[in-house]
Amino acid sequence: MSKKLTISSIKKSKGLKPLVMITAYDALFARLVSESADMILVGDSLNMSFAGKSDTISATLDQMIYHTNAVCMGAQNSFVVCDMPFGTYIDKETALQNAIKIFQQTQADCVKIEGGVEKAEVIQHLSDNGIAVCGHIGLLPQSVRSEGGYKVKGKTSEEKISIIEDAKAVERAGAFCMVIEGTKADVAKEVAQAVSIPVIGIGAGADVDGQVLVFSDMLGLFEEFTPKFVKKYLDGATLVKDALADYADEVVNKKFPTEEHTY
Ligand code: KIV
Repeated sequence: MSKKLTISSIKKSKGLKPLVMITAYDALFARLVSESADMILVGDSLNMSFAGKSDTISATLDQMIYHTNAVCMGAQNSFVVCDMPFGTYIDKETALQNAIKIFQQTQADCVKIEGGVEKAEVIQHLSDNGIAVCGHIGLLPQSVRSEGGYKVKGKTSEEKISIIEDAKAVERAGAFCMVIEGTKADVAKEVAQAVSIPVIGIGAGADVDGQVLVFSDMLGLFEEFTPKFVKKYLDGATLVKDALADYADEVVNKKFPTEEHTY
């Protein structure tokens, strides 16, 4: 079993070894994911792939705490990141109260917050009060409704400047690492060069300090659509459906159970 990462070892990994982050929402998958991931993200994406909703907006703090507990039980030797859901960090005091709830009710190692310059004060307040923060800049899924969709960032020079400013503000405020999502690769590369903490990309190209993917996307379990940045490492949906169909067929044709599976 490899050693659990710490805030300090994660910070020191920059420039040495890319970080592997994968989402998990339950103990079963957390145990599997923990064998390959440096960090497990209990993302609010669980509202989509686990709860079947169309976006992450309606994820609740209690939902995040429930799933983070399950993940921490399944992967006791992993560094676990818990997403703070929409509306739970609108100001620094609300954020602190909710982050304390996460820390007291789960074994999460840090929280993740979407936003750059505008969330610096919140990140600073959490960091000052013993809550480690992973930032999240670039495309912000919790802003999907206000933005009218998921829009790739960094396409204009204004956007590039503002994303780099976001990254610097997040670092200055005390975050120990950050995720950059849905951003042009050349801009993400400059972001990673502009800060001294690790920048973990999703849909942000190869020139960052690590990668994160949603497990149900990368295992091909989510069939509705596949974003361009997702590589499917398994055709999970087909494998699962074929196995279930085999079972159904054997039940109907009285081929299961046999002597082997009978007391
Ligand atoms: O919620 C999530 O899974 C995330 C990733 C997309 C980074 O925030």
